[in-house]
Amino acid sequence: MTSKPVILVSRKLPPAVEARAARDFDARLNTEDTLYAQAELLSAAAESGAEGLLICPTDKLDARFIANLPDAVIIAASFSVGFDHIDLAAAQARGLMVTNTPDVLTDATADCAMLLLLGAARRASEGERMMRAGSWGIWGPTAMLGTQVTGKRLGIFGMGRIGRALAQRARGFEMEIHYHDIAPLADDLAQGATYHAEADGLLAVSDFLSLHCPSTPETRSWVNAERIARMPDGAIVVNSARGDIVDDGALIAALKSGKLAAAGLDVYHGEPDVHPGYRELENTFLLPHMGSGTRETRDAMGFRALDNLGTFFAGQTPGDALT
Ligand code: DGY
Repeated sequence: MTSKPVILVSRKLPPAVEARAARDFDARLNTEDTLYAQAELLSAAAESGAEGLLICPTDKLDARFIANLPDAVIIAASFSVGFDHIDLAAAQARGLMVTNTPDVLTDATADCAMLLLLGAARRASEGERMMRAGSWGIWGPTAMLGTQVTGKRLGIFGMGRIGRALAQRARGFEMEIHYHDIAPLADDLAQGATYHAEADGLLAVSDFLSLHCPSTPETRSWVNAERIARMPDGAIVVNSARGDIVDDGALIAALKSGKLAAAGLDVYHGEPDVHPGYRELENTFLLPHMGSGTRETRDAMGFRALDNLGTFFAGQTPGDALT
């Protein structure tokens, strides 16, 4: 009987995923969910003789880490759709196969974007805090007024799978969909959404702006003071993509001045640190990077990462190969 490939799993995974990992591989699990520093992960890889890593967005695979990987490691399968935590160029140069988990988290993440949009628009965080603090007085005609969603224009920056899934949900709220991407979508995907070839055009019509692009050198700090100034007064910004797409100082200043009515955020620059300015404001609706956090989706992400590992060790190119 041939031995199973050794895989090192960097974080605790859902039980069904760990069970399958243990069935299909010689899996070294992290049942305590210890958060490994880079050096510790490298040592664990060396000590276990791992040929594959099953990693998470909390693991930073930068060029130095990749250069220090034991020779035996030939694949890193990420439990995420995003791959900004991995230096793909360095991986490619090293001959390290890298995979991600697209598709399976589209619905959960789009649900979360809609939750952020509604929560920010309707001051859900503020109202919830009020209830918990016992500081609610009484119903009033002018109390806790938020922003109506129905009929408003939703600007989607990045109309990939998640952007389109958000558009589908927002249509149910009778929102008018606008988007910017590098090229217009085919009609069957656009479903009547208005394309803006220039991002400035999108900003000008975005009563709500939701970010759905990857974090790249081009998109980092994309939401800055200049771009916020182009948005309608009282607009709302939603981010379920990556924290560093937003210039925190600019967003906080606009939320303070009233230029923006509110923001709904699930992701942050420098997670798990969060700019304290967001916590101090009443008009922020803040979640702890839980867009894909449903039991069904996290199982599906794990199975997809294991599929990629299995395909690779069977001598084929994984469906989600990034390098
Ligand atoms: C991803 O997959 O990139 C998410 O941010 C984590 O769920």
